[in-house]
Amino acid sequence: MDSFIFHNPTKLIFGKDQVEQLSEQLPNNTKKVLVVYGGGSIKKNGVYEQVMEQLNNAGATVHELPGVEPNPRLTTVRKGVDICKKEGINFLLAVGGGSVIDCTKTIAAGAKYDGDAWDLVTRQETPNGALPFGTVLTLAATGSEMNGGAVITNWETNEKYGWGYAPYTYPQFSILDPQNTKTVPRDQTIYGIVDMMSHLFEQYFHNDTLSPVQDEMIEGVLRTVIETAPKLLDNLDSYEHRETILYSGTLALNGMLQMGYRGDWATHNIEHAVSAVYDIPHAGGLAILFPNWMKHNLDVNVERFAKMAVKVFGVNNSNLSERETAIEGIEALRQFWTSLGAPETLKDYDIDEEKFDVIVNRAMKRGKFGNFTKLDEQDVRQILEMSK
Ligand code: NZQ
Ligand code: ZN
Repeated sequence: MDSFIFHNPTKLIFGKDQVEQLSEQLPNNTKKVLVVYGGGSIKKNGVYEQVMEQLNNAGATVHELPGVEPNPRLTTVRKGVDICKKEGINFLLAVGGGSVIDCTKTIAAGAKYDGDAWDLVTRQETPNGALPFGTVLTLAATGSEMNGGAVITNWETNEKYGWGYAPYTYPQFSILDPQNTKTVPRDQTIYGIVDMMSHLFEQYFHNDTLSPVQDEMIEGVLRTVIETAPKLLDNLDSYEHRETILYSGTLALNGMLQMGYRGDWATHNIEHAVSAVYDIPHAGGLAILFPNWMKHNLDVNVERFAKMAVKVFGVNNSNLSERETAIEGIEALRQFWTSLGAPETLKDYDIDEEKFDVIVNRAMKRGKFGNFTKLDEQDVRQILEMSK
């Protein structure tokens, strides 16, 4: 393993009715709160009322920024920054999924920065600080509730980047009540499952030779998600399955599983380039691209893929070569995601090769990428071709 420091400052508050803790979690000097949320799901399922009651109890003056888009946009970040500066906001509360949280993180840092928040997202500048913020998560997927990352799209330039700056972009606290995820529709539930599994795979594929504890943990979470996902899709109202999936999503990307090495993250980079050009759901893109990234890179470390096949998908390798085992594992993943109802090819989103040049260009913006193996322009193009 490489040397590392692990410090995750987010307080995780997990369980039934835990939104009741919200007012106590606000910093003492909180007077003006900006509540950031999406297209209205929180008004339909009662989460909005729960949150407002808590903020009223705390005596806070509430401002609102509704309408954060899935794949949150720079224009919305700018709106939020303007409100913070004009109204003297001193606490932000994200209520929603990863998009709302990522938008809030970037507003929080943007509010303490004199220039345009895009400078921070593109890492041309580093933040000077950030307004404190908390989250009430309503969708199991990204892990943004307990990490320092945020992904923002600029539609003027078709660019979508992940950024973050510790400790400023970590939530002070995140409240996760599985009940609040029961209304997540079937398609978003599937996307969430694909996204958290992809985070686990991104971290599984690295070349550090000694990571037995991390491997077992990642394999264990993957097996649990694979076992639970079909049961949840059969019963979207199940508290128990929502709970398991919600906890898995947080654990998959809060840094706990990636100590001492760097995961790959190339598939995420390619997906962000695809969804910067076509506004598709993040995990819809991952479901298409990840098995093809695996096939493309099989020979980088066949043993690793064979291990995944056996330990995660239970492939019986008694009569198979290592390479055959590895290929069966990738097939098992493809079949599993398809069985859940996730998309399989770019055609599912009416995407053809017309804009592959732009996608490749966006993916290569920061040069060759990937930590399991470095991908160049040609690799990205081949993976896109395999995904048509
Ligand atoms: O906007 P509303 O009305 O709230 O509806 C949302 C949205 O339409 C809906 N939803 C959320 N909670 C719900 C609900 N509907 C009913 N009941 C509920 N309880 O679900 C839709 C999707 O929400 P969104 O926040 O976009 O989904 P997700 O959490 O998957 O976030 C996706 C974004 O996160 C980024 C992605 O690139 C994408 O922009 N990512 C962020 C990461 C991070 N910060 O660490 C890592 C990820 O890899 C990812 O890249
Ligand atoms: Zn993701």
